[in-house]
Amino acid sequence: MLRPALSIGLVSATVLLGGVTLAGSASAEPGPAPAQSQAVKYPADSLRALGDRIGLRIGTAVNTDELGSNADYTRITAEQFSTVTPENVMKWQLVEPNRGTYDWAAADRLVAFAKKNKQLVRGHTLVWHSQLPTWLSSDGYTTTLSNDELKALLKKHIQDQVKHFRGDIWQWDVVNEAFDDDGQPRQDIWYKAWGGLGYIADAFRWAHEADPKALLFYNDYNLEFTGPKSNAVYDLVKTLKAQRVPIDGVGFQGHLDTQYGFPDLQNNLQRFADLGLKVAETEVDVRTFTQAPPNENTPTSPLAAYAQESYWSRALQACLAVRECISFTPWGFADTYSWIPGWFDDPQEGAALFYDGNLQPKSQYYVLQQDLALAAGAPHRSGPGAGRH
Ligand code: G3I
Repeated sequence: MLRPALSIGLVSATVLLGGVTLAGSASAEPGPAPAQSQAVKYPADSLRALGDRIGLRIGTAVNTDELGSNADYTRITAEQFSTVTPENVMKWQLVEPNRGTYDWAAADRLVAFAKKNKQLVRGHTLVWHSQLPTWLSSDGYTTTLSNDELKALLKKHIQDQVKHFRGDIWQWDVVNEAFDDDGQPRQDIWYKAWGGLGYIADAFRWAHEADPKALLFYNDYNLEFTGPKSNAVYDLVKTLKAQRVPIDGVGFQGHLDTQYGFPDLQNNLQRFADLGLKVAETEVDVRTFTQAPPNENTPTSPLAAYAQESYWSRALQACLAVRECISFTPWGFADTYSWIPGWFDDPQEGAALFYDGNLQPKSQYYVLQQDLALAAGAPHRSGPGAGRH
């Protein structure tokens, strides 16, 4: 039985666990490739080590500008997480800024870092309306290209990118955010080119052909709440499964906000899992109102921080309770690099992650640590979905 949400303030589970260092080989599941099997050291009370004990991968989105150049950022990324997601550098805008010329450099660096540190990689993302190169579309909804050109371009993009990373990606977010909140298909360039949602099945088939071992995910926000959007995606993936489209999982982004009620997340994870799919929390953060201009160290009220602790705890516990939930990935770890202040600047929201601007753990970190430390009774993730090829 998982304990209810609690706030433990600054009581570190390090005290409980001793804080010794262990070899990566103690992990419940090995890393992706035998060639990288040298021991990797990370603290026994790190999030990744605690997740290892039940086969749950703990992840983070990675800002590759900081990786390698910022020593503390780099150390925390290696020590605390067993899976990484490129926050931006696998998006079409970044990998093919000029038509016909790929730039894989930043993404390749992240993959190499992950191999070195025995981490798995979530590839993000192949089909999206946002962050497209301007030669393709400036807004995701309009384009000067013909439908036939768009179809050929999307096929080539998926095939080239998935082949480039073949064998290195654990989970691909193949299609991202294809629905609006009212459950209607997003009227983006892909929907218009196909005259419907047919592009989704094509995308999964092309990705599977290019890397048959990668787990292929549909990824979206607000699936956490039962409602028109979650129901529409449920119907979509049920249909895809019935049509034998190679979809393996559904990613629940989990961008939470303390001003809204906590969603019925566990129920939604479970009902998608009951379709025979893996599920994952892929972009979790918990924003709240801040008391000063948003930056890396904006204070929040004690009440807001308490609510954030509760939301983090419940988000993690929802994943822990569902055996098919194979990874829990916050969208970064440090408020300094969070996308939130730049996006929700009026009114000011932020403080959505669990390390502060000095890269020190906040109370929310210790809540996650304690939940994982107490999770020994949660169902163990096993089999191919739990972190191996
Ligand atoms: O690449 C340019 C760079 O050349 C320029 O100098 C700089 C100046 O602002 O901007 C850079 O682009 C930024 C890009 O991130 C890469 O850093 C964009 O302005 C910025 O809007 C973009 O934001 C990203 C956002 O997706 C775009 O929609 C965030 O970092 C990223 O966290 C966010 O992630 C998304 C997930 O992919 C999907 N789910 C929602 C999530 C949050 O929005």
